[in-house]
Amino acid sequence: MKEKQFHLQTEKSSYVMMVNAKGVLCHLYYGERLNTVTIGSTQIDRETNLDNLPVECAVFGTGDYRIPTVEVELENGSMVNELRYKSYQIMEGKPKISGLPSTYAEEGDDVSTLVITLEDEHAGFEADLIYSVFPSYNVITRRIRYRNIGTNSQTIQLHRALSFSIDFEQDNYELLQLSGAWAREKTVYRRVLVPGIQEIDSKRGISSAVQNPFLALLGEHASEDAGEVYGFNLVYSGNFVGSVEVDSNHRTRVAMGINPFQFGWEIGMSQEFETPEAVLVYSNKGLGEMSRTYHKFYRERLCRGTYQFKERPILINNWEATYFQFTEEKLLEIAAAGKELGMELFVLDDGWFGHRDLDDSSLGDWTTDYRKLPNGLASLANKVEELGMKFGLWFEPEMVSIDSKLYEAHPDWCIHVPERAPQSTMHQRNQLILDLSRQDVCEYIIRSVSSVLASSKISYVKWDMNRSMTDCGSITLDAKNQREFSHRYVLGLYYILETITSSFPDVLFESCCSGGGRFDPGMLYYMPQTWTSDDTDAVERIKIQYGTSLVYPPVTMGCHVSACPNHQVGRMTSLKMRGDVAMCGNFGYELDATKFTQEEKKQVEAQITFYKEIRHIVQFGELYRLQSPYDREGNEAAYCYVTEDKAEAVVFWYQILARPASRLTRLKLEGLNPMLKYQIVGTGVTAYGDELMKLGLERFVENGDFRSEHYVLKAIE
Ligand code: DGJ
Repeated sequence: MKEKQFHLQTEKSSYVMMVNAKGVLCHLYYGERLNTVTIGSTQIDRETNLDNLPVECAVFGTGDYRIPTVEVELENGSMVNELRYKSYQIMEGKPKISGLPSTYAEEGDDVSTLVITLEDEHAGFEADLIYSVFPSYNVITRRIRYRNIGTNSQTIQLHRALSFSIDFEQDNYELLQLSGAWAREKTVYRRVLVPGIQEIDSKRGISSAVQNPFLALLGEHASEDAGEVYGFNLVYSGNFVGSVEVDSNHRTRVAMGINPFQFGWEIGMSQEFETPEAVLVYSNKGLGEMSRTYHKFYRERLCRGTYQFKERPILINNWEATYFQFTEEKLLEIAAAGKELGMELFVLDDGWFGHRDLDDSSLGDWTTDYRKLPNGLASLANKVEELGMKFGLWFEPEMVSIDSKLYEAHPDWCIHVPERAPQSTMHQRNQLILDLSRQDVCEYIIRSVSSVLASSKISYVKWDMNRSMTDCGSITLDAKNQREFSHRYVLGLYYILETITSSFPDVLFESCCSGGGRFDPGMLYYMPQTWTSDDTDAVERIKIQYGTSLVYPPVTMGCHVSACPNHQVGRMTSLKMRGDVAMCGNFGYELDATKFTQEEKKQVEAQITFYKEIRHIVQFGELYRLQSPYDREGNEAAYCYVTEDKAEAVVFWYQILARPASRLTRLKLEGLNPMLKYQIVGTGVTAYGDELMKLGLERFVENGDFRSEHYVLKAIE
């Protein structure tokens, strides 16, 4: 710190703040790395109108009319807030956030944390602005801890408690967001900022398929490979908001955190409130570099556990093969057929418990349905293991069906508000959500799931969640605390996940929320992979996986080949293309493998052999997006994955529809070592990285609809 300045540095970025003459903590700079900062800002120092200041934590009631970061109500009803610099502290490493997922530093990491404390002396309220700096990852994380120091009020009410806000000097940015719907997750939208508030949010109790808790500001002309990009991603799985406000001075405020909509939190004397952290990435080489920064950081400093750095098994899931109608015999036939082709894990999806023949019963009763599995679950798991495969199982632990023993015993355990029957007119997917703000409910889930996991050889769990919240409230909360419910639910979920995943460290957990409805860094902290989308159509998946890859690493993206006509959109695509699309992430199959023709069997076997050869590149290499499915009328896409040492690469290219008079078929690769000579395996062609990146790789493609190609490159000298 130089005088009243704070300068955070990563290898490629700088983040600078200053305290002005009035004691307001102001934002000075975030962008390309500065060696030193010797100039401050006289304007900022002298400015007395808060509305004109770029602040680091914004409050309302004292002159700043933009979106506040925090809103505090005192016992006397006052909502006038004012925050001034009090003190700072620097510590080595990165402290954990109690009860919340977060990125972490390993011992020996060059990571430090700056805590700047701001205070509202009158209110007896403090905010710790917490910045952790990961220099070699080029990441800065931010969060805020709010505290009642009890000088003027017994309790204070938080109406808004965001994780951070940051004020940029200009407004000439585009906003990028990942929005969509069930089965159409993470479509990339870009829009030019305009004066006023532009916002993404979720009120669904989950981060949601509709908006992902990620947004980016793109500088002028920013593209995949060039230009300034600022990424903001919230490590949270519940209701969130991401706001961008352009003010009358052409400045831009970005703020993110728990959604203030129907939120409230009471802080008693000397108590604190922790907010989820946000991960900030700056790139001056476009979106591609931003994504690679997130990918590496999340693989290495967000995901945890036995599978963090392990190649993930190729699975076959029975959902689209049988839905709820299966017998033990049928499951074993599918598993055996999969094993014969090289698959490694058989996953039994929904319908194995209670008496669940449709989606209208048994959630909450995690006991085997002996009508379908007469020899029990343990016996099925053993038989799958005897085939030489691992066995995996589906759960939806956060739910209860009205037609269930659990609901009969504990009708009050579902989310509902006093004196109103839960969702009396409509039950989304015929099910209710358990009240995870209650300790007894959390303990039931931990007990029931753990006892199944301990009873059989289960190596993998698919943790599903299939509806948005309604009837938000808990009968265990006082009237004045009902607004705490949605966040308390998320805290309960995180407690359950921490307990179960640490009790079963060798189980591979995959999170799912009707596909990608809760694909966020919060869930990735507990479960290192997520089912990307219920849409398994290869064409739709190109866009879904492209959008997902903007932030989330390919190894975290579950991607499966399914049968045609596709169950979601009815489209027929080639098996080759379905395989090539699914190989761009964590590969598997979701179909009845007993139904393959001889020709299909050969193709599938070859796909599996191929994926085993390249999975270390896709899962742990660096991703370069060569062609976007959003450009050129959305007809083509291409990716290149390169190992960190640049010795190996794999390229995927897709064409959706054939076009007459099509363009030159060269594909300019990226990420290779220009000086290394590469062999394009199986083609007899060799070329230098330099040539492949500038002149391009010639594609050997016949025209036709739904085409795809893949190429493997190996450095030879
Ligand atoms: C939704 C998931 O996304 C599907 O893959 C499947 O597991 C179903 N739920 C089962 O109900």
